[in-house]
Amino acid sequence: MNAIDLLKADHKVVLDLLEQLSATTERALKKRVELIDKLELELFAHTHIEEEIFYPAYKKAGSKEEAKMYFEAIEEHRAVDALVLPHLKRTAPGSVEFSGRAKVLKELLEHHIEEEEETLFKQAKSLLSAAQLKELGTQMEARKLQLKAELQQQRKAA
Ligand SMILES: [Fe+2]
Ligand SMILES: [Fe+2]
Repeated sequence: MNAIDLLKADHKVVLDLLEQLSATTERALKKRVELIDKLELELFAHTHIEEEIFYPAYKKAGSKEEAKMYFEAIEEHRAVDALVLPHLKRTAPGSVEFSGRAKVLKELLEHHIEEEEETLFKQAKSLLSAAQLKELGTQMEARKLQLKAELQQQRKAA
């Protein structure tokens, strides 16, 4: 799979999980925990393959405009990974607070994904050759499996 198709397929999975999460109520305790676990796993793998493999190739192929977009995208990842998602994980799933925080997570990610698909990926597509995109896709697919296995291993050990 080429890099952009792979990342877009991940986005679909993430957006679907966010839709499911936002449809839950304070009574769906188990479901909320389950969805957060799934989201964390998907985001962990996705964010890492972007930051380790895709973004650096994009930044290298581009110039100042792409560099700015690169740092913007990384900062958005950081907001989710270091702030919003950890807070949500510590919030009681039966609380209204959880509902509010889940909504912010959804809004942030929807914005981020839209920006990637509408700007970053389009620029990457014009800067990188089809062969490069295919090679990046192959690398990311393999790395993604590793990352998912790592997190699942960490969870078992915890
Ligand atoms: Fe991203
Ligand atoms: Fe993404």
